[in-house]
Amino acid sequence: MKKYIAVFSSFHNIYRLITTLGDTESFAVGVCRLYRNVFKADKIVLICKNISSHGFIKIRLEGKHQYVKKGGMSILTRIEKEVLKQEKEMIFSNRLIYPFVFNSTQGAVYVKREAKTKNFDASEKKWFLSLCEEVSVGLKIFDLYNEQQKIMVNYIKSLSSFLNQYVPTSYLHTKPMLRLIKALGKAMRLSEAEIISLEHASLLHDAGKTQVPSNLLIKQKPLTDEEFKLIAKHPRKGAELFKNMDLLKPVIPIILHHHERYDGKGYPSKLKKEKIPLSSRILSVLDAFDAMYFGRPYKKKCSLKDIREEFKRQKNKQFDPKIVDVFLNILNRKSVSSYLKSSRK
Ligand SMILES: [Fe+2]
Repeated sequence: MKKYIAVFSSFHNIYRLITTLGDTESFAVGVCRLYRNVFKADKIVLICKNISSHGFIKIRLEGKHQYVKKGGMSILTRIEKEVLKQEKEMIFSNRLIYPFVFNSTQGAVYVKREAKTKNFDASEKKWFLSLCEEVSVGLKIFDLYNEQQKIMVNYIKSLSSFLNQYVPTSYLHTKPMLRLIKALGKAMRLSEAEIISLEHASLLHDAGKTQVPSNLLIKQKPLTDEEFKLIAKHPRKGAELFKNMDLLKPVIPIILHHHERYDGKGYPSKLKKEKIPLSSRILSVLDAFDAMYFGRPYKKKCSLKDIREEFKRQKNKQFDPKIVDVFLNILNRKSVSSYLKSSRK
């Protein structure tokens, strides 16, 4: 009975590792530990494709030690290279080897018990094979997920270059802004995934302006109330544009609320203080900085000194005071100010 529970829970654990969708490395480490625990193995070596670098990740568990290596073919031994070429498992009395193949080779695993007296029995061998099939599926899912991410990033890039042509006045100056987003996102303790969503939002936040008459976007004179109402629709229009794209789900609230103000006088929802999503509050500071520092057709460029003063005046009004303080500290960094200077030329 104990054994059946262990078999059942090992499949459940693989499923859990797949669905939490961290990254390939954490999945592979989780799988190695699972092999060690369920098969009471002394040595596990798992090799899989490193999707982001097109190389390999090799994880080796030996006793209590865990080693992770990343790199090209050179990190693999001759035998490991051979195993990856095989399409069939190799089952020995105290060693189990399985190449993960799902349409194409995703990697391989080697599981060993040192003591010859403790050979794997027939049911353990069957269990191993079934578990490996699940892991192959898991590695393929990570592969596909990564492909999907790449497609989405390319889509965002092409869309933002289209936006740059249609709405040049509201396009964030990509390179320096992406650098500031990383710095401010990290300092505000956003997770890696939240920073990526913020980067995407910074490229797409004004996509809704494609549905606003273009003469209003470049109007030099002050807007009438009616004209302002039309422009104020762009956050909702932008959110609407992406609502059916699952991968952009985390980006939508940032776009929707990027014109809210900390004092509740913004639009479209008049949200106040912490009711405004943190990433929208951050984007609102960066968007304002971009407009002041790089200028707009209707707005002159400002000096860093003037920008600092303006941000201080707008604390608790337009902007979240904590974000302003953190951002001003970042601007004080010599490396940041000289980088910004060189990118404004
Ligand atoms: Fe906007």
